[in-house]
Amino acid sequence: MTDMNDLEIRAATVDGVERLVARDAGALILAERDGVLAGTVIAGFDGWRCHLYRLAVHPGQRRRGVGTALLAAAEERFTALGGRRGDAMVLDRNALAQHAWRAAGYAPEGRWSRWVKHLTP
Ligand SMILES: CC(C)(COP(=O)(O)OP(=O)(O)OC[C@H]1O[C@@H](n2cnc3c(N)ncnc32)[C@H](O)[C@@H]1OP(=O)(O)O)[C@@H](O)C(=O)NCCC(=O)NCCS
Repeated sequence: MTDMNDLEIRAATVDGVERLVARDAGALILAERDGVLAGTVIAGFDGWRCHLYRLAVHPGQRRRGVGTALLAAAEERFTALGGRRGDAMVLDRNALAQHAWRAAGYAPEGRWSRWVKHLTP
C-alpha cells in the first residue's frame, strides 16, 4: 500500500528530476536494454567537481554490466567537460553498492565525512 510518505517522496523526486533536466539534461544518463529502461545515474559537473549519484539498475537487469556501462558513460561526460576525479556518496551499510563502486575503480576516503545543513524547513 502507498502511504503519504511514499507519495511525498515520489513528488519530491519528480520535481527534482524536472529541475535537473531543465538545468543540465546531459547529467541524467539512462541505460536502455531491449527498449526498456534498465538503469540510471546522474553525472553532475559544476565546473570543479564531478558528482555521481542515484546509480541504480533494475533488479532484473543486474550483474549484466549495466552499472559498469552507466559509470563509463558518466566518466566520459566528466572528462569531456574537463573533470578529473569522480566522487560518489556510498552508504557504509550498502555492501552491494560498495562492490560495484570498487569494481569500477572507486575507493573510500576515510578522512572525510559528509557535513550538511538543511536549507528549507
Ligand atoms: C549497485 C548496482 C547499480 C550495480 O549495477 P549492476 O548493473 O548490477 O553492476 P554490473 O553488472 O556492472 O557489475 C559490475 C561489477 O560490480 C560488482 N558487483 C555488482 N553487483 C554485485 C553483487 N551483488 N555482489 C558482488 N559484486 C557485485 C562485480 O564486480 C561486478 O562485476 P562482475 O559481474 O563481472 O563480477 C545495482 O546493484 C543496484 O542498482 N543496486 C541498488 C541501488 C544501489 O545501491 N545503488 C548504489 C547507490 S550508491
